[in-house]
Amino acid sequence: MKKNDTLKLVRFISVFCFGAFILVGTARSQSDKSLIPTLVEKDGLHTLLVDGQPFFMLGGQAHNSSAWPAMLPHVWSAIEAMHANTLEVPIYWEQIEPQPGKFDFSLIDTLLLQARERNKYLVLLWFATWKNGSNHYMPEWMKHDAEKYPNITGRNGQPVDSPSPHTKAAMEADAKAFKAVMKYLKEADPQHTVLMVQVQNEPGAWGSVRDYSPVAQKLFEGPVPKKLLNPEVLKALKKPVVSKGTWQEVFGDDADEYFHAWSVASYIEYVAAAGKAVNKLPLYVNAALRDPLTNPKASSYESGGPTDNVIPIWKVAAPSIDLLAPDIYLSGSEKVLKVLDLYARPDNVLMVPEIGGNSENTKYLYKVLEHGGIGFSPFGIDNNGVGTDEAAAERLATLATEYAIIGPMMREMAKWAFEGKIKAVVEQEDHAEQTIDLGEWKAVVTFGGGRRGTQANERPIGKAMVVKLSEGEFILIGTNCRFTFMPQGANDGKAWQYLKVKEGKYEDGKFKLLRIRNGDETDWGGPRFGAVPAVLRTTLVVR
Ligand code: DGJ
Repeated sequence: MKKNDTLKLVRFISVFCFGAFILVGTARSQSDKSLIPTLVEKDGLHTLLVDGQPFFMLGGQAHNSSAWPAMLPHVWSAIEAMHANTLEVPIYWEQIEPQPGKFDFSLIDTLLLQARERNKYLVLLWFATWKNGSNHYMPEWMKHDAEKYPNITGRNGQPVDSPSPHTKAAMEADAKAFKAVMKYLKEADPQHTVLMVQVQNEPGAWGSVRDYSPVAQKLFEGPVPKKLLNPEVLKALKKPVVSKGTWQEVFGDDADEYFHAWSVASYIEYVAAAGKAVNKLPLYVNAALRDPLTNPKASSYESGGPTDNVIPIWKVAAPSIDLLAPDIYLSGSEKVLKVLDLYARPDNVLMVPEIGGNSENTKYLYKVLEHGGIGFSPFGIDNNGVGTDEAAAERLATLATEYAIIGPMMREMAKWAFEGKIKAVVEQEDHAEQTIDLGEWKAVVTFGGGRRGTQANERPIGKAMVVKLSEGEFILIGTNCRFTFMPQGANDGKAWQYLKVKEGKYEDGKFKLLRIRNGDETDWGGPRFGAVPAVLRTTLVVR
């Protein structure tokens, strides 16, 4: 779907200003802490500017009930252990507005203070009307009044544990509270410890594709709103272009789900716009995914949220939401890679706000960077009141080694991602080798250990990333794999060799040499990468 021209102009101006800032910035200061975090787009690639410079969120998300002072030490312990730069943490409507119009922002104060003490950033998750499709974080005074704040009704009149998006009173109450939060943040956080705010959590409904209450039914039998009948939107939804019709007439078998998606997204737009009016921080909505490969029926997943098939609806209904983000709990590399492709769009920057915290998922961090994404975060990093901090840290130890390497070079990495300079491959279940096209060169990556890669990885955990600095000059990062190169194009078939393979790490924007890899460390089809990632600056030459 095309963005409108105004948006393009605004983005052009932002990117233009960003370019100018970088130029001037090198002469003055490198960053400006007074600048609000901003998403910018250039040639279909995006970045999150923090202090005016590209930033990548090496994140971790707390468990749902861990944003309480008694629990936060465990959360911070996890953030430190995993070398994360950003904590994603819920803020609860039920706790913030215990009585109508009486706000308590002490949780926000605590989070800001503790994050700043540790030099970390925050992404706040507004658990409000929807949390995983239910109303469980609505304040008690709303839960007591089911008539005023009703849930949806199922197809056969059965109750469904999901709030109705057609309730003006709830929508206005949520918007009022969200606006108060955003206003408070604007005053309490001039240095922008908070990078983004998630509006709701996995909105939509489980157990019914839409609301079948009389109020909803009447809307469903009415005309589809004009905005949704835009030919570009209809084409993106793979529907015939028409100028009018009821939901059923225009969308056929998909009408129920599309109606719910439109209704939920429109409600959230109302809430988000109220917040944006007082504070321009980037906003996003996260999605409980559907199987991206099989086009399943909406009754089998959470209906109405920003699943891949209804992204065009969400983009039209909720322009105040800057991005739609996949929560990845699917397994199998084909599915996960497909999800990343589906959410990295010219009109949607990729951010993975939740992914299962198993070590196999660490590899997708590289693919998010390749897609020009802005953040990656496993879910449930803290001990959740059960077990020790050490055990919690152990679960994320693999990702921690990545964050430890990428953390000190995060600004460079974010810039390369924005410039489209990163390519990555991850080991799939067949363990097959993969090729990366690098212009005058191609890299062949095989997975496993041993001198000639003879020891296969037991599980598909290998991963490799190449940053193309110029023709024949690359940064290589990886684990459980080895690289080799071949010239292609004009030099196809010619002999080649490494000019230099420098192993090192980035500090303060500079590459610090640890050693030069040569001999066994580059011969025998190398260089090789073991279980702990390394950074190699490599130059190649044709002979
Ligand atoms: C996805 C939700 O967004 C999270 O808040 C959490 O409930 C996880 N699922 C799984 O526990």
